[in-house]
Amino acid sequence: MTDLQNVLVEREGHLAVVTVNRPSKLNALDNETITELDTAFTALDGDAGVAAIIVTGAGEKAFVAGADITVLAKQGVLDGTANSRHGQRMMSRLENCSKPVLAAINGFALGGGLELALACDVRFASNNAKLGLPEVSLGIIPGYGGTQRLARLCGSGAALQLILTGDPVTADEAMRIGLVNGVFEPAELLVKVKAIAQRMVSRGPTALALAKQAVRRGAAMSMDDALALEADLFGMISSTAEMKEGMAAFLEKRKPSWLRG
Ligand code: COA
Repeated sequence: MTDLQNVLVEREGHLAVVTVNRPSKLNALDNETITELDTAFTALDGDAGVAAIIVTGAGEKAFVAGADITVLAKQGVLDGTANSRHGQRMMSRLENCSKPVLAAINGFALGGGLELALACDVRFASNNAKLGLPEVSLGIIPGYGGTQRLARLCGSGAALQLILTGDPVTADEAMRIGLVNGVFEPAELLVKVKAIAQRMVSRGPTALALAKQAVRRGAAMSMDDALALEADLFGMISSTAEMKEGMAAFLEKRKPSWLRG
């Protein structure tokens, strides 16, 4: 992925680190950056050598400070809808990725930045991070999935407080409302998130993909339908060499050796 300008993709074994790289604009998401993120996530999802993805921002100040306001300022009705759809598609691509995706929130995660983090499976923040959806202070509403994903993750009360005040919360407050899974010192953040990602990488890759599917797809279903989905996926995993290897490794008191790709 050498042709990307605003997004860096680095590999460390089975781990991929995707960095939004426009630090002079606090990594704000312009159309090009959104398209590049979509390209990167599509490629990583299709790469059998990649087992987990970390998303972070370049520099020490911001994860992503939002959609690029210079782009939003020019939009009318039709391109407003198109801009929202463009961002939503990229976020959904990330959410539906078959591998675990971890957000390392290293500073401001505002607007589209928080929406990017919300499309990840788990979120960890540095203790100086600020997270919020300030769109109403600009006379717009969140348009990259924030109204839906924040309410589903934290409940409509907490979501509406963030959305209707436009005020950001600290990392500790984000932890309290269930918006992030953990808070670390800035210098420790990436190290800790990589360690958590490696725990996931050590697990069965098909099991990870199907477990993620069960949670993600099940959340939009009735309990009865979701339990049927879980049973079907459980049956499906029971037909795999991966299951045989996982069970055999336990019984033989050794580490499993997973097949990838
Ligand atoms: N879109 C476009 N440019 C942005 C941006 C965004 N969302 N967020 C920051 N930038 C740019 C600034 O315009 C500035 O560019 P310049 O140096 O060319 O003037 C640069 O990034 C640095 O930001 P600056 O505002 O000087 O940093 P700060 O430390 O004083 O403030 C923030 C940091 C995050 C509080 C402030 O940048 C901010 O409020 N950004 C917008 C957040 C927002 O509303 N996001 C939701 C958009 S829908």
